[in-house]
Amino acid sequence: MTTTSTNSAANDPLSIHRRAIIVDMHADTTQRLVDEGVDLDRRLADGHLDAVRAKEGGLDAQFFSIWVEPELFGLGGARAMKRADLQIEAVRALAAKHPETWELATTAADIRRISSAGKIAALMGLEGGYAIDEKIENVGRYYQMGVRYMSAAWSVSTSWAGSSGDAVGQTRGLNDFGRAVIREMNEEPWTRLAYFNTARRALEVLVGNELAMQLRINLSIQLPNDDSSLLPVHADVWAGDSPYEVVLWIPYVNVYGTKTMYILPREKDSRYQERMGELKLKSAEELYRTIEPDLRWLDIPYGNVLLFTQNVMHGNIVNREPETRWSSNCRFKSVFSPYADKKLGEFFEPILVRPATSIGASYRLPSVA
Ligand SMILES: [Fe+2]
Repeated sequence: MTTTSTNSAANDPLSIHRRAIIVDMHADTTQRLVDEGVDLDRRLADGHLDAVRAKEGGLDAQFFSIWVEPELFGLGGARAMKRADLQIEAVRALAAKHPETWELATTAADIRRISSAGKIAALMGLEGGYAIDEKIENVGRYYQMGVRYMSAAWSVSTSWAGSSGDAVGQTRGLNDFGRAVIREMNEEPWTRLAYFNTARRALEVLVGNELAMQLRINLSIQLPNDDSSLLPVHADVWAGDSPYEVVLWIPYVNVYGTKTMYILPREKDSRYQERMGELKLKSAEELYRTIEPDLRWLDIPYGNVLLFTQNVMHGNIVNREPETRWSSNCRFKSVFSPYADKKLGEFFEPILVRPATSIGASYRLPSVA
């Protein structure tokens, strides 16, 4: 009896909310701050969000959506920017007016600190890239103003990114400028660090305490039934990668069935790789059929990451599930392990070095004339 009642108390949603750090990724309340001048510090009779109800529900951090409605403010231009700026000012004003309740946050560490002080962290995300007004420098501008995520398009496509909400988006993906925007966001210094931190301890144990990380984080999008970007069975070492590299694979959705990737467990992989010559395979398809009975299909729930050596065979097939797979991958290796085609300074960059290494690397012998 005791166990049952303890369990039900432990599983009670409110009790979970109280124990965990609860982050709500999206509130459309920002427009109310601007248009209606509501005071979010008081209990409101309408809407979904105010500080009183947020605290009752155990909310620790709120991302405020900075949303520029394209029908009213355009797909870019001064009016779109003004609309975004006003909303950012309103979120900042909320924190400035009620510092005992709200505090502006831009990092995970901020959220932990603010939550342990019993306050609510206020964060901001741009919902749709209209306010960057097709200018790459505005990505950094909004970052400087405290914005910490941006989606490419809301339900109306921009010139550079197709939306799932209109007809244009059926055929438009990202153009060159769109890719430049994603690159710019990736170049924010915290992006690679945040990526690294998701598996830092495992990387330090498995790879080393002086680590090089790939300069670019790769994003992979696998639409249902799309065969345009498949990775047939391969080991990256066959294409010139160093065998000392590991891949940190982060799925942004649950991956399962055909929506995931497969990998050949290492013991089985070595047996196939030893017999590769005698198997006399003519294509990747034949190789796939040969190893298929031994493949492991990775069922990874959202929130978990995969670290694997790309020396073992892996790949994916057409995603036959009804949902899109979004995932990122990035390579790591010990700074001083051998390099192959992908060099330090071009493809890899040190992300973790010990003080003695930094001192040594920056030391220049005095020239004696
Ligand atoms: Fe690969």
